[in-house]
Amino acid sequence: MTMDRNADAPWSKFDPEAYVDDNYRTPLDVDLLIVRHMRDYFSRCYAAGVPDAVRGVDVGAGANLYPGLSMLPWCEKVLLLEYAPPNVAYLERQKSGTGYDTAWDAFWDVLKEAPAYAGIDDPRATFGDIVRVERGNLFDLEDGHRRWDIGTMFFVADSMSECSEEFRRGVRCFMNALNEGAPFAAAFMKESVGYRVGEHRYPAYRVNEDRVRESLEPFTGELEIHDLHHMVRPGHEGMLLALGRRNSEIARP
Ligand SMILES: C[S@@+](CC[C@H](N)C(=O)[O-])C[C@H]1O[C@@H](n2cnc3c(N)ncnc32)[C@H](O)[C@@H]1O
Repeated sequence: MTMDRNADAPWSKFDPEAYVDDNYRTPLDVDLLIVRHMRDYFSRCYAAGVPDAVRGVDVGAGANLYPGLSMLPWCEKVLLLEYAPPNVAYLERQKSGTGYDTAWDAFWDVLKEAPAYAGIDDPRATFGDIVRVERGNLFDLEDGHRRWDIGTMFFVADSMSECSEEFRRGVRCFMNALNEGAPFAAAFMKESVGYRVGEHRYPAYRVNEDRVRESLEPFTGELEIHDLHHMVRPGHEGMLLALGRRNSEIARP
């Protein structure tokens, strides 16, 4: 059997509206739980104060705003980096005009239960002000020339290819894009066999907690992995959420 590599999947045909309908339009408990964990983790990381000019990145942002929203109170700027052109267009629409779709309010409602988030009066305006969208490839972050102070990567390294080598490379590239000490959150589908969006199929690499831990551990100081036993659809066994901080290890291929 041939392996579906990242470059083989129909990214240019990714349908963000179908994807939001399937995953986020009706908020699932598991996502709200992830948001709660992330909110509390980032709040702890910055409990002693927020440094000046923090820059955040969400890698493979796709049609999901909640990782970006979770970085809002801490950042001067947030970059949403995404490869698929239809998703880039979706993200651009979310920060233009009257602001992001009401579908994302349910996630902000969870975030704003914590003081730093509650301090943002108009999250739509703040999102429009500080967020920038860029088309880019995760694999181009390998050399570590571009680095951020906080980062998120949700369902990307595990949901872009069937190859173990590309999974590990994806994680390494994300880690290489973070400065020493940077808090991060990364989420993975457990044991995913791939997924469908609209008419198209997309590849996945099957991970479990051990594989996720093994891939992240070399690059992290503190690391906690939450195993969320929720089924979202047939074809995977739940979600894994990794929260931690980047250490000073240089990631090499
Ligand atoms: C399963 S979706 C996850 C989207 C979103 N982060 C979320 O939490 O729902 C996988 C995302 O990875 C993006 N992607 C695939 N290959 C990529 C690459 N080489 N570099 C950056 N993003 C990529 C896809 O376009 C898609 O948006």
